[in-house]
Amino acid sequence: MKVLFRADEIAERVKQLGKEISEDYQDRDLVMVGVLKGGFMFLSDLVRQIDLPMQLDFARVSSYTDSYTPAHEVKIMMDVETNIREKDVLMVDDILDTGQSMHVFKAHLALKSPASLRVCTLIDKTFRRSAPITPDFFGFRIKDGFIVGYGLDYAEKYRSLPDIYVLNPENGR
Ligand code: IMP
Ligand code: MG
Repeated sequence: MKVLFRADEIAERVKQLGKEISEDYQDRDLVMVGVLKGGFMFLSDLVRQIDLPMQLDFARVSSYTDSYTPAHEVKIMMDVETNIREKDVLMVDDILDTGQSMHVFKAHLALKSPASLRVCTLIDKTFRRSAPITPDFFGFRIKDGFIVGYGLDYAEKYRSLPDIYVLNPENGR
């Protein structure tokens, strides 16, 4: 595997994002919603760079595709517990790829009438985007490729790595 973003570069970018978010959400009623599992590491680093009071919650969204069905099947496996009505909600995920998962989850949260609802993703992967969604905040933008580390997995492996790597599609290593 080849390193794409080193831990220190990620930390620097997360710090900048934290600053941006702290400025944007001053005097707002911020609720950060981490999308599990992939978003766990990014969220935990990001919240420590945000100099504002906030509420934290988590959700779990799974997306499933196979070669027979072109459409994604997105399931909300675990919903937020916080009452987000009239709150300023920021969803935090590891990667926006086709965008289908976040699109479905965003529509789901929108039904709960938050004051605002925005998306923050560490990686904005643009090539396969098929849902009408763009991140309001992103850490890094890449075109394509399968990446792992810093929360991102391949078949549940590599999530704990501090750096982000590009996986070799030939052998998955
Ligand atoms: P979506 O295609 O935007 O719905 O992304 C669904 C999910 O696929 C993401 O939340 C990730 O869990 C996973 N995913 C997409 N691209 C990658 C990648 O490059 N590495 C690891 N997981 C990925
Ligand atoms: Mg994910």
